[in-house]
Amino acid sequence: MGSQKASVAFISTDRPLQASFREVLAEVAPEAGAPMEVLTPLGEMTPEELLRLDYAEVSIVFVDLGSDSAKALELTRILIGRQADRPVVLVGPTSDPELLLAGLRAGASEFIGRPLDVATIRESLSRLSPRAPKGSGRPARDARLFAVLSGKGGTGVTTVATNLAVTLAKTTQRKTLLLDFDELGTAGLLLGLWPRYTFQDLVKNFHRMDDELLESMVEHHETGVDLLASPLDSSEAVAISRENTVRVIESVKGSYDYVVMDLGRSLAPWIDAALAESTDVLVISTAEVTSIRNAKRMLERVERSFKGMKSGIRVVVNQFTSGATNVRLDELKGTLGYPVFRTLPRDDESALLAADTGKPLVLDTGSKYGKDLYALGTELAGDAVLNGTRPSGFKGRLSSLVRRKKGAQTPSEGSPRSSK
Ligand SMILES: Nc1ncnc2c1ncn2[C@@H]1O[C@H](COP(=O)(O)OP(=O)(O)O)[C@@H](O)[C@H]1O
Ligand SMILES: [Mg+2]
Repeated sequence: MGSQKASVAFISTDRPLQASFREVLAEVAPEAGAPMEVLTPLGEMTPEELLRLDYAEVSIVFVDLGSDSAKALELTRILIGRQADRPVVLVGPTSDPELLLAGLRAGASEFIGRPLDVATIRESLSRLSPRAPKGSGRPARDARLFAVLSGKGGTGVTTVATNLAVTLAKTTQRKTLLLDFDELGTAGLLLGLWPRYTFQDLVKNFHRMDDELLESMVEHHETGVDLLASPLDSSEAVAISRENTVRVIESVKGSYDYVVMDLGRSLAPWIDAALAESTDVLVISTAEVTSIRNAKRMLERVERSFKGMKSGIRVVVNQFTSGATNVRLDELKGTLGYPVFRTLPRDDESALLAADTGKPLVLDTGSKYGKDLYALGTELAGDAVLNGTRPSGFKGRLSSLVRRKKGAQTPSEGSPRSSK
């Protein structure tokens, strides 16, 4: 063991088990001192006892699953909620995969079986003790971080963020993560993925995050994009707070080249934290008056929080038609104080189809909307676009992902979309 003190707590009403833990700990880590022993039944720990654990600077908590695993998991959730970086180790049966998964979701770091044995506890302590610097051994990537947001719902944030991520991944073949912060997030839907883990699971597992764990928590899309889903079930919500936002971003930044964040149209305080971490911002608006007004407000907020150069802030006008209800682009520039980086056409049919099939628009080279989204992505990727990612091989493979068209080889520029 290293020199750092690993002061640990053991929660169990089982006195012989407590005694056995005390013995093992004395052998494995004498410098840790006696463990703090909590003999209160799992469901009955008082706020004072929880506080005592917090203040005792306990760095690892062992929880005996005992005879009531539901209570043990509940307690684990509470402990992680209080201090996400204080690992919880569950003690009990290690052969039940359902229980293991439930434990992981509750935020437990490890399971150890009974009877307690010296080697296992030694390994646990050496893995989980705070002396092991967090993030050590993580690759030294430092992602380019895109914040995509709007001032108004239904504008196209999720569409742009999802298609940007897909384009970046496909054309640069660099590691790309789509991070859905929208509480009603639909990024998974647009990728046809059903995520098993969310932002919350990541938050609960910060203390033991490494590439392998991160890898197991994201969904892999066939285009190479990884997705971390938004918090879906608000009943078990770990709030998206400023602190959690920064920690999530910090914990993924080292493992990806590109991170695209769907920030929706939230006005919550954590938005500022996400903006402060970003290298690029895309503000999505339509050319409709209320959308522009809200985009203007969002841009003011972006300017306060974003730390990069002003050229890193770009305005994208979606659902653009030259119809009479639309504000002209030059007027729009005057109002917003930013040039329009790109416009994307209104295309109800393609948008609907993409949502229905879970096939990102950029994979459908038949629509102008898809092409324009693709061009937006490649322009942002710049020099990182690999030669040959666009030509036939790419298109050929992509065409196998889009709806099969009778007799079509590769959808070509300007070819009419097969209708319906
Ligand atoms: N250019 C477009 N033309 C037509 N419909 C669009 C366009 N872009 C997005 N949509 C549709 O508008 C709705 C909102 O888009 P979405 O990307 O989810 O916006 P947001 O994330 O800003 O709420 C979706 O039903 C989407 O299919
Ligand atoms: Mg959205």
